[in-house]
Amino acid sequence: MLRVTPLAKDFCAEIGGVDFNAPLNRSVVIDLRDALDTYSVLVIRDQPMDDDQQVVFSKYFGRPEVGKGANPAAGSPFSRQSNLDIKTGEIIQANDRRMLYQKGNMLWHMDSSFKVDSSLCSILTAREVPPEGGNTEFASTRFAYESLSKLQRTAIAELEVEHDIRRSRELTGYIYEPETAKNFIVARHKLVRTNPSTGRKSLLIGVHACGIVGWSNEKSRELLDDLLARAEQSVFSHQWRNNDIVIWDNQAVVHRATPYDASRYRRLMQRTTISLDGIWPSLS
Ligand SMILES: [Fe+2]
Repeated sequence: MLRVTPLAKDFCAEIGGVDFNAPLNRSVVIDLRDALDTYSVLVIRDQPMDDDQQVVFSKYFGRPEVGKGANPAAGSPFSRQSNLDIKTGEIIQANDRRMLYQKGNMLWHMDSSFKVDSSLCSILTAREVPPEGGNTEFASTRFAYESLSKLQRTAIAELEVEHDIRRSRELTGYIYEPETAKNFIVARHKLVRTNPSTGRKSLLIGVHACGIVGWSNEKSRELLDDLLARAEQSVFSHQWRNNDIVIWDNQAVVHRATPYDASRYRRLMQRTTISLDGIWPSLS
């Protein structure tokens, strides 16, 4: 039976009680999905998982995206978060473009919000983590929405927001090759999203959110920054241990990486990102 231990009220829970590498029965999967809908961030401790096992586990949540773009794992179901060269396993120099690219992850964001099909959730497994630093922080955009007055909620109810990955990279000084940059699109989403299971509403914001459709840059930025500041009132910081798994709802939380000494410590995390191009897969 799945054990769910809340870490805060309605936000973040530690789960356990089952071997997540074994085939999961229907009731466990339903409980797992319910826990994600309720708590937005789920932490599993002491569950080693290799790539194949992670793909099997990920499919209980939906379809894993195939990575594209600048990530070294592009073309596979993984997005690799690491300071280790994918071929040699050696630490990458600090001034390498690959390290600069990862700096964008230190800004509050939702994975894949810049895609037409945004993401339901991400699953990140810790294969090798530094002894200090490198936490991942989460902030609830559901709480941000719920902090708004009735009038404010009505005012934003129908807004559409544009998301563009180039914004986060530009802010950290990463310049795309022109050939790569021209392939990106600006994705439009409803700013307010309703969880179909719980009926609770959340906001699609974060650093990729570059504007409100039909609004000036200045007015858009003012609203988006205010909403993000509201989310930041509820930060949960996860301190990683080897063999941790964290699952988060990309429709209800923003997250960011925090620094660690990347010239000294090795770090390897593997992320699968579940697409929102459908509802939960059938459990038959
Ligand atoms: Fe991320």
